Amino acid sequence: MIDEEWSALPERGVAAGRVLDEIRALRAGDRPTHGGRLFAYVYDPGVGGLDELARAAYAESAHVNGLDPTAFPSLLAMENALVGAAARLLGGGPGTSAPEAVGSVTGGGTESLILAVKAARDARPEIAEPRLVVPASGHAAFAKAAHYLRVALDRVPVDPATLRPAVADVAAAIRPETVLVACSAPSYAHGVVDPVAEIAAVAATAGVRCHVDACFGGWALPWLRRLGEPVPPFDFAVDGVTSISVDLHKYAYAPKGVSVLLHRDPALRAPQYFGYADWPGYTMVNPVIASTRSGGPIAGAYATLRHLGADGYLRLAERTRDAVRGLAAAVRAVDGLRLLAEPESTVVCFTADDPDLDLFVLVDELAERGWHTQPQLSYAGLPASVHLTVTAAVAPRVAEFGPDLAGAVAAARTAGPVRLSAELLALAGALTPEALTPELVAGLAAGLGLGGGPAGGPLPGRMAVVNTLLDAVPVAVRERLLVEFVGLLQRPAW
Ligand SMILES: Cc1ncc(COP(=O)(O)O)c(C=O)c1O
Repeated sequence: MIDEEWSALPERGVAAGRVLDEIRALRAGDRPTHGGRLFAYVYDPGVGGLDELARAAYAESAHVNGLDPTAFPSLLAMENALVGAAARLLGGGPGTSAPEAVGSVTGGGTESLILAVKAARDARPEIAEPRLVVPASGHAAFAKAAHYLRVALDRVPVDPATLRPAVADVAAAIRPETVLVACSAPSYAHGVVDPVAEIAAVAATAGVRCHVDACFGGWALPWLRRLGEPVPPFDFAVDGVTSISVDLHKYAYAPKGVSVLLHRDPALRAPQYFGYADWPGYTMVNPVIASTRSGGPIAGAYATLRHLGADGYLRLAERTRDAVRGLAAAVRAVDGLRLLAEPESTVVCFTADDPDLDLFVLVDELAERGWHTQPQLSYAGLPASVHLTVTAAVAPRVAEFGPDLAGAVAAARTAGPVRLSAELLALAGALTPEALTPELVAGLAAGLGLGGGPAGGPLPGRMAVVNTLLDAVPVAVRERLLVEFVGLLQRPAW
């Protein structure tokens, strides 16, 4: 039966005001994008009036098509300005060691990484089975790039103490078929900057490109350095760095859908492009994966950068740094919690050393107190942890975090660790990716209270049992479970 209340195509059109009210009502169920209490997914500078400006700029160009820069020179101009700004911030442009730096605006970090891998792969057509070397802490998008592009992935383990790869291990992982070596500045999970200069040097010695994934923190580190923080070299100032990605929809605080992929020179960028004229329609030249692309994100980012300016970003970085310090101090003050890494960028990541303190229960307790943190499962010798992406909007909230963290820890201790039922434990032990049929996952999801409501939701408030189950099973089973589960959520609303 068609549900007229929810149909995106009702028999009779709905008045504009009501449609907006409906969207606002739906949004009320979302995590709060503003207010400094959500430590993942969103980047909030907490600057009054910026949203309105970005929205207006976005709307101005939303219908403009980036498909053809000659038809819409406004987009070309803004895109070139964004690339120039990113290149200058990251050690490129006139008067630097990368004077020929060029780039493209993409739709996000994942697209930038896929294109960096594609450019590296297609620059070496003689290699039949290309390979990509990435530290284990590298973003999952590298694995996605490898998967999409049929490039083999060689992951280099990270030291559990430093959360960085050993340079010798990176060097040893480079083979004749390696087309790209990647590293992070910083890594998303722990906010740790890889030894970029050393990794770039071993890549250059082997004649291989080196990509620095600065998607997450590439717009934060330069300002932190200007504030006097000890940020190691990670950009084009480092010889051997051939490309860098930086997401403007992260620490540049632009509305979502905008990242920049930079190359040290145009020859390195050339294999990123796709041109096609062998059909009867328009000749197609795409620098990025999308062909038709909205001008909205580009205009939104342009307006955001111009309005905030270098002085604005410096102030925001200072606030962010102070918030990071305050949150880290709050973590240090709690018995049983331990920072997994000393914060060196904009991440606070902690774990629990006490078996009576269940991190996944703690995450739920924090959520009940209005703090939305991100649980990270144990992986390859690294313990489960809690990740906080810290943005400038968090600064005014920091003083409230400490007491709430202490309260949440006390509550988590009282509640005790999650104990999976004998039935679930037996199931978890027996699960293999092949055995996971959609029916089995649906039964499991229903048993865990997941995905029951209209349009696939709502999710249960407490996720500790689900996280404990995921933590208990091998990586391949985690992947299958999540894929099947999201498939269950994504069903048409008729
Ligand atoms: C280091 C890093 N690389 C890549 C990405 C992927 O970016 P996106 O989610 O914009 O595709 C992220 C996202 O958090 C990231 O932190």
